[in-house]
Amino acid sequence: MSGSIFTSSIGKKMFMSISGCILILFLTFHMCMNLALIFSDSAYNAICGFLGANWYAVAATAALALVVLLHFGLAIVLTIQNRKARGTIRYRVTERENGVEWSSKNMLVLGFVVVIGLIVHLANFWLKMMYTELMGAHEVALGAATVAPTDGAAIVRFYFSQWYYAAIYIVWFVGLWFHLTHGVWSMMHSLGLNSKVWFKRMKCISTIVATLICGGFALVTIVLFLQGNGILPNPLF
Ligand code: HEM
Repeated sequence: MSGSIFTSSIGKKMFMSISGCILILFLTFHMCMNLALIFSDSAYNAICGFLGANWYAVAATAALALVVLLHFGLAIVLTIQNRKARGTIRYRVTERENGVEWSSKNMLVLGFVVVIGLIVHLANFWLKMMYTELMGAHEVALGAATVAPTDGAAIVRFYFSQWYYAAIYIVWFVGLWFHLTHGVWSMMHSLGLNSKVWFKRMKCISTIVATLICGGFALVTIVLFLQGNGILPNPLF
């Protein structure tokens, strides 16, 4: 290891772990907030109103964007460095790596899937909500209709009632699940939990965290799709 905490590969891994940890906290909050949509549109819109074009929400969005850029940029730099260091032998498979092998090998590709999904997602929601509000507009087009940019429930319901959007989002959550199963494990490993005893526990914790987060998002998508197509009642309860 050479260089400072900012330039050494251990330093970069540390920043990957810390930024990953912040993103997992955001995802946990975002998933819980979206679960509200299953119970009440007005509760969901109240949360969206709180997180709308207010200065603290805009500042949090800017900070989040920085963290995503840091996480993604470092991932690319670390991958290039690892490939250079390993030459043609990209992966040395050991028994210890069994089970996390596929996602660990494909973290950058999975990261690209997550980022492409995120771009579609931000175009669907962030652009129609926070951005529209910041631009001072009071309505936003949803197909032939228009709604207020603060009506998050109507905007999410509009997209998730269409099968292709629901399908794209589910594929995105599967990519995110694979990324998180290895990501959470790798984060704990880099932060020092790397004893033999913790190895199995960390794998188990990673799978639980990834499943809860992605399962929560998928549940919202599926319930809204079924409601949007008259298969489930709306409201559900
Ligand atoms: C059921 C699934 C999801 C729903 C219904 C949903 C809904 C929303 C909505 C309505 C917004 C706009 C909020 C606003 O601008 O006021 C938003 C923003 C955002 N979403 Fe999601 N989301 C989902 C899944 C995800 C996932 C899986 C990720 C990340 C991998 C994600 C990342 C983001 C980010 C980064 C923003 C911008 C946050 C900000 O403005 O600070 N979302 N989402």
